Amino acid sequence: MRRLAAFRRGRAGVVIPAALLLMLAAEATAHKLPPSVEAVPGLHHEPIQPLSPPEGLDPDKVRLGERLFLDPRLSRDNDMACGSCHDLGSNGADNLPHPKGRTGAGPALNTLTVFNGGLNHRQFWDGRANSLEEQIDFVVTNPGEFATSWPEIVARLRQDPDYGRAFGRLYPDGITAAAIRDAIATFERSLVTLDSPFDRFLLGDAEAISAEAKEGYRLFKDYGCASCHQGSNVGGNLFMKFGVFGDYFADRGDATQAYQGRFNVTGKDPDRYVFRVPSLRLAVLTAPYLHDGSVKTLEQVIRVMAKYQLGYAIPDRDIHCLVAFLQTLPGKYRGRRLGATGGDAERAAP
Ligand code: HEC
Ligand code: HEC
Repeated sequence: MRRLAAFRRGRAGVVIPAALLLMLAAEATAHKLPPSVEAVPGLHHEPIQPLSPPEGLDPDKVRLGERLFLDPRLSRDNDMACGSCHDLGSNGADNLPHPKGRTGAGPALNTLTVFNGGLNHRQFWDGRANSLEEQIDFVVTNPGEFATSWPEIVARLRQDPDYGRAFGRLYPDGITAAAIRDAIATFERSLVTLDSPFDRFLLGDAEAISAEAKEGYRLFKDYGCASCHQGSNVGGNLFMKFGVFGDYFADRGDATQAYQGRFNVTGKDPDRYVFRVPSLRLAVLTAPYLHDGSVKTLEQVIRVMAKYQLGYAIPDRDIHCLVAFLQTLPGKYRGRRLGATGGDAERAAP
């Protein structure tokens, strides 16, 4: 039995990544490696790279974008902001299977975190928005979310002299849809969770993570998880079918239109059940899991991955190590390590 498991693991470890590399070449966004990566020998060969600070963001636009992100006046009934579903104080998302939304008509899919979202090659589970700017349009008009229109939002914000001054300083045309989109997206690009224990480990601090987590990283590569979840965001840069080795959707039942993935965007049959691979940077903080929010724990979702994406079962001991590895991935936001419960001991200067 053990030999068989090892053989299958080895086979998957070689065969799947080879096929995926081709897709990667077509899909992945090229990221310039930061100098810190160049300085560590061999680091550029690793499938996961450390996050680097966002460059060239205007701090005044970041501030304005944050204010807009938290402003319920963007929604039709003044009762919902981006921050209502994307909690910046915890995980940049919520912990619901899917958000309630307006009048019970909210999104059917699980909320994705806004942290590190600027690194994704497309936005949303099905990648239907090509940029952070475009993503905002979907929220504005969605009847289950802001349920409004840009002219309405612009008219409303123009009544606020504070906004008038702030936009006037930063944008030649003052308050416009394009300026609002730009400010919010600029703020979102600032939401990079730097200095995680895993990034410190990658950059040469061998003590930054436990032996268990190191073993978890080895398994993550060995099992082939890293062929889909890779890059500095540990995902977010390619599309993959969910159910490579089995039909998750037949097993699940209830074939709701919302769960068809990229098929809903392209209408092409091969895109049915294809999803943008999610980032695992904050996975330990964003239960429940999957596009349908159906899986409650990380252990369980790793078993689902093993079965449907890799075609075998992973022993509990290895799952334990994989979880220990995933626990090292969240970094800091405003000097506080996300998900840290240790209070001041976990806090450090940004
Ligand atoms: C009612 C809750 C809700 C509100 C309000 C909301 N979101 Fe979301 N957000 C979600 C859900 C659910 C998803 C995933 C939906 C999907 O993929 O179809 C999501 C996805 C995203 C993503 C994609 C992340 C990724 O990894 O692809 C971004 C970026 C985002 N939201 C930003 C915003 C911004 C900016 C606003 C305000 C303009 C906003 N959201 C308002 C629930 C919400
Ligand atoms: C063939 C590509 C592929 C492989 C290999 C793969 N995954 Fe995934 N993973 C995905 C896709 C696609 C999803 C999104 C599934 C969905 O909800 O539609 C996902 C989702 C996840 C999630 C849930 C994230 C969330 O926010 O809901 C976790 C955790 C995860 N994978 C971990 C792993 C681990 C650990 C391994 C290795 C044991 C692995 N994956 C192997 C493609 C892959």
